[in-house]
Amino acid sequence: MDGQFNQNDLSHIVEADRDHLWHHLSQHKQYESTDPRIIVEGRGICVWDQHGREHLDGVSGGVWTVNVGYGRESIADAIRNQLVKLNYFAGSAGSVPGAAFAQELIGKMPGLTRVYYCNSGSEANEKAFKMVRQIAHAKHGGKKWKILYRDRDYHGTTIGALSAGGQDERNAQYGPFAPGFVRVPHCLEYRKHEQEAAPDSNYGEWAADQIEQVILREDPDTIGALCLEPITAGGGVITPPTGYWPRVQEICKKYDILLHIDEVVCGIGRTGKWFGYQHFDIQPDLVTMAKGVASGYAAIACLVTTEDVFDRFKDAPEDKLNYFRDISTFGGCTAGPAAAIENMRIIEDEDLLANTQAMGERLMNNLHSLKDQHEVIGDVRGAGLFCGTELVADRDTREPVSEKLAQAVVADCMKQGVIIGVTNRSLPGKNNTLCFSPALIATADNIDHMTSTVDESLRRVFNQ
Ligand SMILES: Cc1ncc(COP(=O)(O)O)c(C=O)c1O
Repeated sequence: MDGQFNQNDLSHIVEADRDHLWHHLSQHKQYESTDPRIIVEGRGICVWDQHGREHLDGVSGGVWTVNVGYGRESIADAIRNQLVKLNYFAGSAGSVPGAAFAQELIGKMPGLTRVYYCNSGSEANEKAFKMVRQIAHAKHGGKKWKILYRDRDYHGTTIGALSAGGQDERNAQYGPFAPGFVRVPHCLEYRKHEQEAAPDSNYGEWAADQIEQVILREDPDTIGALCLEPITAGGGVITPPTGYWPRVQEICKKYDILLHIDEVVCGIGRTGKWFGYQHFDIQPDLVTMAKGVASGYAAIACLVTTEDVFDRFKDAPEDKLNYFRDISTFGGCTAGPAAAIENMRIIEDEDLLANTQAMGERLMNNLHSLKDQHEVIGDVRGAGLFCGTELVADRDTREPVSEKLAQAVVADCMKQGVIIGVTNRSLPGKNNTLCFSPALIATADNIDHMTSTVDESLRRVFNQ
């Protein structure tokens, strides 16, 4: 695909960027001696930078977002057509694409009935936390206000969402955080040797039982919700161990705790099903989603709830506080649901869930054969096109490689024109998981190219 991008001189843009832009998650000192990277164009699974260099994007826009790939004119057309008709009205009123997308989305989520729109994953999670708090005040006489979250999970960047943040390095220096958020242990079997008293067998049930221990310690009457990623993303692509989720659901039911699943990464096809939780036969009360909902063509996030949760905000209309007193200005932008409808149509018409399953299997197989060749790969995890490999200095002790070395692999792949990801200043001493999450349109050639590039990079970085 080289040459598709008609290169113009973008040095003035590079200078404007260097002088004025503050990049996300970036230390800027480096740009005093190197040029910032500017992504100029995207087509399919590839992007081109300011030098016209093509990259295979193995992380869907860097952060698991561009699920249907770049350059989708039908989504751009859907957005344009909607914008010239009605770009915006506050979400206290409905909109044509808002109602239509809600209906389609609910069709993919049996047991859930209501969609609340906003515009980022962090915000959707904040809404869920607010609902739990309001239910605590209005329905439990002020009890059940605490929200449980898990070590290594991430739910967003605002102070509220960071209060539920299980990534200590991501949280460092941003406290104090909001009270009433309580951490439960992670469920990463590969690192169970670091957890006191973890058993050799039935680890999944044991890990879920650790949540119950926290509930009992805190007093079940104080716990309103448990917020979990179905498969932890930025915390190291943690696929839950067998037996974990059924037990988690059981515990929530036992103590009348709402189950809030954060599908911001896994939602809308990433794992080969519409939602990550649908792999585990569980029934959540609240589900949040963002990134892949419109594949980054427009900003849209959703909080989806059961009718039971919804009812608690309309069952006492004589009470003037008995509704969800929340608004998101840009939750009323119609571009989001217009793009989301087309995004969903593409996934269905192009059978991208099936492709994600098939290509995900290929990716996992390729990563396992890399593990056979590279001592440095300690563990391979994933579901669908959402995979990770933990790099370790020693397979026996499982000591993680340094963050610097993990980043060197990413930088080497980048030099070879393949973008992969790595846990980014998330976990002290454990930013050692490489992440692979190409668009759901990935072909066998794309997958093989990505993993053979990683193979070469591992050889170069670790002299193997
Ligand atoms: C699991 C999860 N939840 C929430 C968020 C926050 O989403 P946003 O960046 O759209 O606020 C992220 C972002 O990476 C995420 O990975």
